[in-house]
Amino acid sequence: MAGTLFAVSDLHVAHPENRRIVEGIRPESDEDWLIVAGDVGEIFEDVEWALRQLRTRFRQVIWAPGNHELWTHPQDPVTLRGDLRYRALVQMCRDIGVLTPEDEYAQWDGFGGPVTVAPLFLLYDYTFRAPGTTTKEESLKKAYEAGVVCADEMLLHPDPYPDRESWCADRVAETERRLNAVDPAVPTVLVTHWPLDRRPTEPLWFPEFAQWCGTERTAGWHTRFRAAVAVYGHLHIPRMTTYEGVRFEEVSLGYPREWKRRTADPQPLRRVFAPGKTG
Ligand SMILES: [Fe+2]
Ligand SMILES: [Fe+2]
Repeated sequence: MAGTLFAVSDLHVAHPENRRIVEGIRPESDEDWLIVAGDVGEIFEDVEWALRQLRTRFRQVIWAPGNHELWTHPQDPVTLRGDLRYRALVQMCRDIGVLTPEDEYAQWDGFGGPVTVAPLFLLYDYTFRAPGTTTKEESLKKAYEAGVVCADEMLLHPDPYPDRESWCADRVAETERRLNAVDPAVPTVLVTHWPLDRRPTEPLWFPEFAQWCGTERTAGWHTRFRAAVAVYGHLHIPRMTTYEGVRFEEVSLGYPREWKRRTADPQPLRRVFAPGKTG
């Protein structure tokens, strides 16, 4: 039972201070694995830079995309959009030996194992609607009125899908098929950028932002697919909660202005399993 399964997300390496933190990330043993739950950065080359470094240090690195990797940023020489961009990220990961949602799920046999580690790309579909609204249109309108609009609206293109919710529906269906085929005797660690359940979004300062944070379609997946732990990021609210007995770990580093409020010296890696952590 050697080795530790670590997790982190939202490294946002465009920020030089975060880049220095990534340069300092080290495993504790040669057996350790690292989960990276999205938002490494938005420039393709930056994402590759960070994942390549981490891959040289950890026995295994497992990545799921965040919204920032999927942006087509005006300063990025890689101009791919939507699904083509995602596929190029997957290919880049394969070239450097990083596991993606398109690869066979790996089994962790170190401390806390055996578990199937499943990185998932699911996106969101505006069903975590703003309070008092019942349609996507109403929910979006409320966000625009509140001045809380995710930059995805300008930068995360759904091509070739007509919209992000259609892409999400497709991802959910395909992922459900994959998870149904996993050995039911082994618990899972479900890794997503956007939380599988709406409840983690409750502390958001602006509830209108929740519509860019997940989909009601995955409600109950943490019990249905036997999660020992559900790892996610995106909210930049690092914490641990429990729903129906399943531990949810928000593992984000976040922007320097965010982590500086908490500490001068962030320790970004979270232990997915540690003595005393149940699940
Ligand atoms: Fe983020
Ligand atoms: Fe994000």
